[in-house]
Amino acid sequence: MTIPDQDTIIQALTAVQDPELHQDIVSLQMVKDIEIEETKITVTIELTTPACPLRETIENDIREVLLPLDGVEVVALEWTAQVKASVPREDQKVVEGVANIIAVASNKGGVGKSTVATNLAVALAASGAKTAIIDADITGPNIPTMFGLPAGLQAENTEGLRPIDKHGVQVVSLGFLLPKGTPVVWRGPMIGSAVRQLLHDVAWEGIEYLIIDLPPGTSDASMSMAQEAPIAGAVIVSTPQDVSLEDAMKAVSMFEKLDVPVFGMVENMSYFVAPDTGVTYDIFGHGGAKKAADELGIDFLGEIPIEPAIREGADRGVPVVVNAQDSDSAKAFTQIAGSVAARISVLQRMNI
Ligand SMILES: Nc1ncnc2c1ncn2[C@@H]1O[C@H](COP(=O)(O)OP(=O)(O)O)[C@@H](O)[C@H]1O
Ligand SMILES: [Mg+2]
Repeated sequence: MTIPDQDTIIQALTAVQDPELHQDIVSLQMVKDIEIEETKITVTIELTTPACPLRETIENDIREVLLPLDGVEVVALEWTAQVKASVPREDQKVVEGVANIIAVASNKGGVGKSTVATNLAVALAASGAKTAIIDADITGPNIPTMFGLPAGLQAENTEGLRPIDKHGVQVVSLGFLLPKGTPVVWRGPMIGSAVRQLLHDVAWEGIEYLIIDLPPGTSDASMSMAQEAPIAGAVIVSTPQDVSLEDAMKAVSMFEKLDVPVFGMVENMSYFVAPDTGVTYDIFGHGGAKKAADELGIDFLGEIPIEPAIREGADRGVPVVVNAQDSDSAKAFTQIAGSVAARISVLQRMNI
């Protein structure tokens, strides 16, 4: 019995579709290498993101078409990833060294925007993507704390802000320039220029995903940022309460007006599972964000439970994705990060 040759294998692989791009993996040029050793075939697949949530589906589909071929006994998969850059609109200035920008927004403070931004960044980095985060919440920069970086650590620095590597993420915050607790009074134009500096004056290198933690609301800073920065898309954070949802809807319409794609809505503080009894409580209600997302015709990205470990980790500077990988919240953050990365790949494909 002879094992099939390259051409036969490639022909068989044309039956495998990328589940998101709805096209076969051969014509998408995702098959980078095929190695044949006796009865074993090793296929190398190049994904559009290392955070690809559907790796397993692709793997199963490949096995399903190759294993029935005569002479094939073992099918092994190897993965690589090549993240492409989003193409900015004509009126937007490219951020050098950054391929894709993801904005995390809400219209209200305290809903967990920075928590979501931080954990999405850490989850993307953990998948192997080169990831950065910018703390654009200038009036209350708390990304340093959430990453366990001291406020004011670059206050004496004459060269301006530099990214600091923490939990695998390149972190930049104006909080690095200001000692903790320094009250900052910003006027609109100052905010705009500070945010611009955060984006354009930092020497970024090879960043595949840059997360921006926007200030809450449709303030000058968010507006100018969303207008000028080539944002690939926005993630809107809300709690299940009506008041917060109303606010989230405002954020959605702001991005739509500015022609920035909205990736979808995350429901934070969605439910609470009592650790002693396992009983679930919907402290702030439940499911409201999904309903709102449906009404607005945008995706619902997932729900994050209330977990004391999230708050405790945030205060200690160890995000829950690093600290408690098996928790429901860490799993949800990782899944949401994968969905967002996949959405970026799909949008890029549509723009070709
Ligand atoms: N799902 C959650 N479970 C427990 N605590 C949370 C959760 N989400 C956020 N928190 C806590 O709530 C507070 C506000 O969250 P934060 O991310 O700073 O909100 P925002 O950036 O929207 O103002 C922080 O102390 C954070 O640790
Ligand atoms: Mg915040």
